[in-house]
Amino acid sequence: MIRTLGLEKTYVLSAENIVRALRGVDLEITQGSYVAIMGPSGSGKSTILNLLGCLDRPSAGQYFLGDQDVSRMDDDALSEVRGRRIGFIFQSYNLIAQLTVLENIQVPLFYQGRNLAHTHEHCVELANLVGLGDRLDHRPNQLSGGQQQRVAIARSLVNDP
Ligand SMILES: Nc1ncnc2c1ncn2[C@@H]1O[C@H](COP(=O)(O)OP(=O)(O)OP(=O)(O)O)[C@@H](O)[C@H]1O
Ligand SMILES: [Mg+2]
Repeated sequence: MIRTLGLEKTYVLSAENIVRALRGVDLEITQGSYVAIMGPSGSGKSTILNLLGCLDRPSAGQYFLGDQDVSRMDDDALSEVRGRRIGFIFQSYNLIAQLTVLENIQVPLFYQGRNLAHTHEHCVELANLVGLGDRLDHRPNQLSGGQQQRVAIARSLVNDP
């Protein structure tokens, strides 16, 4: 399902300030398996998840998602793969402050151009699933930390990834 070959990510802040966050990662994950990536703070976990989640592109190496080489895709193609196939929970949630719980859950569908009236019920179901059925109209700053985290979980499931 997921295969990477020599995956590298280098962050260049300036000529003397370069961070080699990933230095040639070979990884294979088969369909249906559960995998945990562990390591100390700053060791590159979010960096590799951003690549696997098609949120960022590697500096070098290849990434195959199924039979697609996503390391060579442009931004539009990458967004399309992300929207259709991937559910991603950000380390810092990344909820949109101006939107309600329900609207935050709907965001990925909005970007896919889906009719939100048709998917309204599905989004309410997901809010219920994470125990937020009575908080649909709250905004992120009106929620507890754990509640915000669960909105992010519901949002990651909305495209049936
Ligand atoms: N945008 C960036 N620009 C420059 N350096 C970065 C950037 N993002 C991350 N880094 C650096 O790359 C390294 C890997 O960061 P990353 O966020 O992948 O770590 P992590 O394993 O997720 O850590 P944590 O457990 O604290 O979340 C860190 O040393 C970090 O300082
Ligand atoms: Mg991290």
